[in-house]
Amino acid sequence: MKIVVIGGTGLIGSKTVAILRQGGHEVIAASPQSGINTISGEGVKEAVAGAQVVIDLANSPSFEDKAVLEFFQTSGRNLLAAEAAAGVRHHVALSIVGTDRSDNGYFRAKVAQENLIRSSSIPYTIIRSTQFLEFLRGIADSSADGNKVRISPGLFQPIAANDVATIVAEVALAPPRGGVVEIAGPERVPFNEIVARYLKAVGDPREVVRDPEARYFGGRVEELSLVPLGEARLGRIGLDEWLRRSQAAA
Ligand SMILES: NC(=O)c1ccc[n+]([C@@H]2O[C@H](COP(=O)([O-])OP(=O)(O)OC[C@H]3O[C@@H](n4cnc5c(N)ncnc54)[C@H](OP(=O)(O)O)[C@@H]3O)[C@@H](O)[C@H]2O)c1
Repeated sequence: MKIVVIGGTGLIGSKTVAILRQGGHEVIAASPQSGINTISGEGVKEAVAGAQVVIDLANSPSFEDKAVLEFFQTSGRNLLAAEAAAGVRHHVALSIVGTDRSDNGYFRAKVAQENLIRSSSIPYTIIRSTQFLEFLRGIADSSADGNKVRISPGLFQPIAANDVATIVAEVALAPPRGGVVEIAGPERVPFNEIVARYLKAVGDPREVVRDPEARYFGGRVEELSLVPLGEARLGRIGLDEWLRRSQAAA
């Protein structure tokens, strides 16, 4: 089967491409560097020609509110129009658990991306994932206030990129759901506690402060803002196992 992975050089994209290629599929790892750009439209029509499945794993180079909204709207429109013309049979996209329940600029952009998919003519599956374990360092850095890291005690259930890619590849090969599949990591714990465990494990001396007012990408974090409310498919790799693997790979 011909499968196009938009953002095929990224964190989740590169892992998904490797899994699908191992399964014997013809996979295009699309990114601006390979001449396929969903913002300018360059190379998109040619890439999706003859493809049965397109997986959108692109991310915005800027997370600033206006830039990220423009990225997901323009990219989504260009890509879905090319897919409709090419007769693509399954569009898969990776969104975020809680996008529809939290108010922050990045989540609003992902809602816009999801809405474009729902109103297109292409059969689709939207996968909403919790935050990746690989993102913990970025979260700590963006929540840092000198030597203190302010994090909400709302619940958090991060998932390893390897688990995300495994599930994305499986979903892409299954029939379109015409709806949302939620995925999360195996452990559900207060956000501040998992960031503290992570920083301690990697020898980062910064102190995590439990702060119910601390924002995440500008949005408030209530107890259940960032975790699935209903049924979710769980990854297998928790924080300790992920740290062990990361340290072994370093
Ligand atoms: N971070 C999280 O915790 C989290 C949680 C749930 C869902 N998600 C979603 O997961 C998805 C993948 O995230 P990630 O961390 O794997 O992303 P990433 O590592 O930042 O990779 C982004 C990919 O997008 C490509 N890209 C950028 N601009 C493009 C364009 N104009 N046209 C085509 N491709 C373009 C990049 O190509 P180059 O390498 O050439 O720049 C790269 O391959 C995102 O949609 C994100 O919203 C993230």
